[in-house]
Amino acid sequence: MSIDNLKVLDRNHLIHSVTNFRTHEQNGVSILEKGEGAYLFDADGNKMLDAFSGLWCVNTGYGQQSIVDAAAEQMSRLPYATTYFDYGSEPAIRLAAKLAERAPGSLNHVFFTQGGSDAVDSAIRYVTHYYNAISKPRKKQFIALERGYHGTSSVGAGLTGLPAFHAKFDLPLENQHHIPSPYPYRHECGDDPAALIASSVLDLRNKVNELGADNVAAFFCEPIQGSGGVIVPPVGWLKAIRKTCNDLGILLVADEVITAFGRTGPLFASSAEDVEPDIITAAKGLTAGYAPMGATLMSDAIYNAIADADTNGAVVGHGTTYSAHPVSAAVGLEVLRLYEEGGLLANAERIAPIFEDGLQALLQHPLVGDARQRGLLGALELVADKDTKRPFDTSLQLNVRIQKASFENRIIFRAFPDNILGFAPALCYSEDEMALLFERVQKSLDAVLEDIDVRECVA
Ligand SMILES: Cc1ncc(COP(=O)(O)O)c(C=O)c1O
Repeated sequence: MSIDNLKVLDRNHLIHSVTNFRTHEQNGVSILEKGEGAYLFDADGNKMLDAFSGLWCVNTGYGQQSIVDAAAEQMSRLPYATTYFDYGSEPAIRLAAKLAERAPGSLNHVFFTQGGSDAVDSAIRYVTHYYNAISKPRKKQFIALERGYHGTSSVGAGLTGLPAFHAKFDLPLENQHHIPSPYPYRHECGDDPAALIASSVLDLRNKVNELGADNVAAFFCEPIQGSGGVIVPPVGWLKAIRKTCNDLGILLVADEVITAFGRTGPLFASSAEDVEPDIITAAKGLTAGYAPMGATLMSDAIYNAIADADTNGAVVGHGTTYSAHPVSAAVGLEVLRLYEEGGLLANAERIAPIFEDGLQALLQHPLVGDARQRGLLGALELVADKDTKRPFDTSLQLNVRIQKASFENRIIFRAFPDNILGFAPALCYSEDEMALLFERVQKSLDAVLEDIDVRECVA
């Protein structure tokens, strides 16, 4: 079918994620056709360097034949197996065991989902069930971070701390609350990591005290906030939050949908900080985007409390047709093998300092006010005035211009509406590809700076 026909069909029939419907109709779809390593090719034949791993998920890079073979083998042997009625499949059981072995502490029990939103939704449901099971039914309030992202399920989107996901959806719910983001660049304690951590801990304590600790179920956070603009809290923040949750008697849920599987270094970002959350949610890098899958990992304590509550044999009414899908699980097993035996985690560790240097070097650019990163998750924040950190006026639509310039320079990254540029190169990047990434980002920034109205705004 011709590209033009596809564009018409897309406009008429395919609803895209998180878009303005009318703007998308005007822009039209950019059709992606194939991927190879760190590169994507569109239907017009353009070869683009993917500096965002799809949607921070294709951590292995594209075209990993061993993953394709694992999926094909599983699909021809057993394409589907339910986990209802005590059934299961070998790859799902093996993947659950491998994750439990690698996850921090006693996170030994895995519920598989289709992605991150339903992993978060499952966490919320299990937390609710848990408190009812241990006869603390009043603990129903949930706290999360401003700028946090916890997907778009009808409850999880309320924990998300980004206004676009609340507007006209009647969210957040009455039992969902937010505290300020530990955002070093824009926090009043930003220059002093210890003060920022103390301030964040105080925010959590105050919020729990305001609600009453007996009423609070859990605090949800990403170890590094992704969709909120790659906000990297100081090292030690997560540990301090863990301790605070213990002190206050509330659960800690670490949403590692982006940060896990080598994106920020080790398999779990919580492990890097020596933190054991009560629940971890994961997705994306779990299958590197080759098949849909997420996971909710829960501690022995939560699992056993739920298990022991129903002595009359009543079922825990949570599950889905595609939970623990055998093809996704087979993909997950091979992806995990590539991270570990295939050397991808080691390569990520090797190239992360080059990534950091490249981001830091761009601080010299007139548009760049901040550069931040952990592992292969990074951002540049563009500001009109570096001294005052004044953002660009939204009417300039700088992010739209950057997006256009990046396409012209054949590089894909995320330009958030508040002019934060997000980067998540695949763990397979070579040094040359990393150099190309920064060459193309620099060219894209230079191109935007050539616009007179942009130049006039820069202090
Ligand atoms: C931290 C976090 N949680 C949850 C989600 C939702 O995952 P999904 O889009 O797979 O539903 C995302 C997606 O970006 C995420 O970054």
